Amino acid sequence: MTDTAAPATAPVVFVLNGPNLNLLGMREPAIYGHDTLDDIAGRLEDRAQDLGLTVDVRQSNHEGHLIDWLHEAQAVGARAVLLNAGAYTHTSVALHDAIKGIVTPVIEVHLSNPHKREEFRHKSYVGMAAKATVAGFGAASYIVALDAVLHL
Ligand code: DQA
Repeated sequence: MTDTAAPATAPVVFVLNGPNLNLLGMREPAIYGHDTLDDIAGRLEDRAQDLGLTVDVRQSNHEGHLIDWLHEAQAVGARAVLLNAGAYTHTSVALHDAIKGIVTPVIEVHLSNPHKREEFRHKSYVGMAAKATVAGFGAASYIVALDAVLHL
C-alpha cells in the first residue's frame, strides 16, 4: 500500500545569532575558535537530523531583528530557540523582555564563558530570562544546547 500521507514535519529549533557572529572564523580566534557560522550551522543541521529536529539558523547585527525572530519562533510553534545574542546579552532589556514575552523556551548560548572574561560580560539580561545557559564549549556549545532541547 502506498502511503500518501504528507511526511510529518520535524519540529524546528530557531538558532539566533547576534552582532559580530557573522565574523566567526576570523574574529578573535583565540577566544572564539576558527569555525565559521556556516560551519556551525552545518554541524547543527546534521545533529538536528539525528535528533529528529530541524534547525533554522539566522544571524543579525540588529537588535530588533533578534526580537522579531523571537516573536516569530512562538508564532510558528518552534520547539525552542538557541540564542547567542553576542554583546546584546549584556545590554539588552528589550531582548530580556522578548524572551519573557514568549512561551517558547529559550536557551542562552555562548562560545566563550563570559564569567571568565571582563566584568562587563558577567551580567546577562538574556540569561536572567532564559530557561538555561550553555557556555564555554566553543562551537560545541551550540551542539550541547541542541541536545538539551530534548530535555526541556
Ligand atoms: C559571546 C560572548 C559575548 O560576551 C560577546 O559579546 C560575543 C560572543 C560568545 O559566544 O562567547 O559577541 O556571546
